[in-house]
Amino acid sequence: MKKKRLIQYYSPNLNFKKVLKALFVKDAKKKTREFYRHLTNKKYILLTSSCRSALYLTYKSMGKGLPVLVSPLTCSSALDPIYYSNNKIYFSDISWDTLNIDIKNRARIPTNVKVIQVIHLGGVPADMETIKKFARKRNITIVEDCAQSFCAKYKGHYTGSFGDVSCFSLIKNAYGIGGGVLATNDYEIYRKAREYQENLEKIPTKVIIYRILRNIIETKRILSVYNYIFTNLMNLKNKFHDEYIDPKRQFFDYVKQPNEILFKIFIQQSFALNINHFNRVNNGLKILKRLASLGVGNNYKYINFKQITPSFTKLFIYINNFDSSVGIKKLNSMGIMAKHLEQKYNSFYQVENNLLERYSSAKFIGSYDKYRKIHHSLVSLPLNENFNNGEVEEIISKLQLVVGKSSPGIG
Ligand SMILES: Cc1ncc(COP(=O)(O)O)c(C=O)c1O
Repeated sequence: MKKKRLIQYYSPNLNFKKVLKALFVKDAKKKTREFYRHLTNKKYILLTSSCRSALYLTYKSMGKGLPVLVSPLTCSSALDPIYYSNNKIYFSDISWDTLNIDIKNRARIPTNVKVIQVIHLGGVPADMETIKKFARKRNITIVEDCAQSFCAKYKGHYTGSFGDVSCFSLIKNAYGIGGGVLATNDYEIYRKAREYQENLEKIPTKVIIYRILRNIIETKRILSVYNYIFTNLMNLKNKFHDEYIDPKRQFFDYVKQPNEILFKIFIQQSFALNINHFNRVNNGLKILKRLASLGVGNNYKYINFKQITPSFTKLFIYINNFDSSVGIKKLNSMGIMAKHLEQKYNSFYQVENNLLERYSSAKFIGSYDKYRKIHHSLVSLPLNENFNNGEVEEIISKLQLVVGKSSPGIG
């Protein structure tokens, strides 16, 4: 009997051979800085332990109590740096197509907003032209959160080249085991962030070893024996970590001084970036095309893909009348590893951000109802570069089964 292969949500694309090769990569930090200098066109590049670290150091270097406008449609990793650096969150409106921050309703944006944090959700760039124009007029600093948009382009320019400060993650579609980047032309922000980082703790070696092993096992998860090992490893980790550690400690576990091995692995993985990106984006477009032909999922069909090149780090689909809290569980039970916003292992659904205690004082300046509607009808479909047409069809047919007669159309 043919063994059933798991439809993987994501593949870290790591194996022992690549790790071994990575150990011999020379000048990894310098090469990583050069890579991001080219990508962002920024003068100062600070290597960090994660994107959370890069964002946190950005805010620490800018001050306290700053009102920051940010999309509520995100995971807590993008909001915690604002919160734990003692700055103030204002939740923005969201656009129906890109699912990113929408600032068209300018009159509602308080005049005291000092920073806009732009998240390019799923690697689909936000409307940077409008945001830049508005920010220039109001003297607002743009922090670009490119954790999900590594190598995505907006009107021919890479995301990360628009912000006053741009922050990246070296995991996800950069295929690393951790690490981050802060890129800016503002020397003062760079200097303060670097100084602040020198006072942080170092990442423990056992964490690095754990991440390497986890990513190697996760890569092989399509085979049931590795899926079994991975599932048990994650359950064990959750027992000792996620379930019992408070959010503040969890956050600061990712805000440390970086270790060179993070950048050695990033450089090693960068050799296969082009082909992986090309295949992943193509698979994403294939899925979207099929969904459009079936009238399922509405958001991306209004996007002009001639103007933007997505990186599809995740494939977020908004489906009118879809109940994510039930539908994602159903898809999971059918072997489709769909998720919601938060990308933690085994967390198929994330509560609304405003319901989390630490963000309860954040104000909505856009329509809370719109956010709620999108949040509760969102699904992040599995997407990786290794899918064949059969796997694409299986995702589509199972999604269709779960969605049933939910009506197409926006809002
Ligand atoms: C939008 C966004 N910002 C920031 C982060 C944090 O990235 P890292 O895991 O490198 O800290 C993530 C990761 O989940 C993210 O999705």
